[in-house]
Amino acid sequence: MRVVLFTGKGGVGKTTVASATALKIAASGKKTLLMSTDPAHSLADAFGVELGPDPLEIAPGLWAEQIDPQQRLEENWKDIQQHAVAVMNWAGLAEVEAEELSVIPGLDELFSLADVKRHYDEDPYDVLIVDCGPTGETLRLLSLPDIIQWYMERIFPIERRVMGALRPVARRLTSLPLPDEGVYSAVKRFYDKFDGVRQVLTDAETTSVRLVVNPERMVIAEAKRTYTYLNLFGYRVDAVVVNRLLPPEVSDPYFARWKEIQAEHLQTIEESFAPLPILTARLRDQELTGNELLADLGAEVYGDADPAAVLYTGEAMRVDKRGESYVLSLQLPFARKEELELSRKEDELFVRVGPYRRTIMLPGVLSMREVGSATLEGDRIEIVFQRGGGPKVEERD
Ligand SMILES: Nc1ncnc2c1ncn2[C@@H]1O[C@H](COP(=O)(O)OP(=O)(O)OP(=O)(O)O)[C@@H](O)[C@H]1O
Ligand SMILES: [Mg+2]
Repeated sequence: MRVVLFTGKGGVGKTTVASATALKIAASGKKTLLMSTDPAHSLADAFGVELGPDPLEIAPGLWAEQIDPQQRLEENWKDIQQHAVAVMNWAGLAEVEAEELSVIPGLDELFSLADVKRHYDEDPYDVLIVDCGPTGETLRLLSLPDIIQWYMERIFPIERRVMGALRPVARRLTSLPLPDEGVYSAVKRFYDKFDGVRQVLTDAETTSVRLVVNPERMVIAEAKRTYTYLNLFGYRVDAVVVNRLLPPEVSDPYFARWKEIQAEHLQTIEESFAPLPILTARLRDQELTGNELLADLGAEVYGDADPAAVLYTGEAMRVDKRGESYVLSLQLPFARKEELELSRKEDELFVRVGPYRRTIMLPGVLSMREVGSATLEGDRIEIVFQRGGGPKVEERD
């Protein structure tokens, strides 16, 4: 199954472009599912239909679903939540407060990602189109599997071992509710689910992210930042869609200056995101709702290109041997040197750009070496791993 995610600043036309893409793919004969991670019922509005948690066929070969986040939350989080509530009750919080507090913000959206994985495993569709929320939320959402993985791998085994040894004693000493095996297996299931999600979403042949922008300064700035972070997390962006370009036939002098500004922004977009394909869509004279207008938009955006294809196959991360050293190269466009922080602990490398962090597990050849230097080469950060100061061992390739 192919997965294509659409994201961009609020209101730029993500839902519209995702819907147009899904329609065009379905029309080409591929069985397509369109889903949204956005709790607002925007897909239903775009197509003018009622949608529920079960996929509904809204055009030939195209199904759409609107997830019920609350229901998904109950299914996946209940056991863990019950324990959290018990602990908070013990600490003196009222039941209602405890229940509110035990729901981590963003958790409900996270379960829409679990749905991506479920569809991937069940595999009844050729293509899954995901209409994501605005960029900030999407990034938080896409970084969650990473964060969960990090905590789970470190904290879970330790806590489990300690609790296993201490539970009989601890039960006698305190009335604090202790997690039982049920909680642990719920945590484990939760973790396994998101480990799989991350694998699907960062697989270059399966998943692509498309950034939707308008020819406006703030929108472009946000898209550039998003692009950096997506690369940092290992997601592959394969195209940028510029929506709401004033069409050539608009000749009213009132818009003349706007057209100049848009042309400048379009050039910035091309310079900023090259070599990604830049796709375009005109500002229409009405809202883009209903199958006919959306299909028309799909034709404009993709032309003869296949919207289900991977439109750009660049490498976000690479490891090369250079002389005696290895070079780990990460594509991090727009990363500025002063924002970049590197640190390392054993076989893990921590790369930080602004508030976002990525943990890279170093392959064996790199973890044996020391970080020699890190330089920005165009849009790539190159980290050189040199042989350490220990005894020199003759190396064979
Ligand atoms: N090229 C266009 N021409 C005319 N109207 C458009 C165009 N693109 C989108 N619209 C309209 O703009 C509105 C917002 O679009 P849409 O809902 O797709 O944005 P969004 O990025 O998904 O917003 P949100 O961030 O709220 O999810 C809709 O009413 C849509 O029909
Ligand atoms: Mg939307």
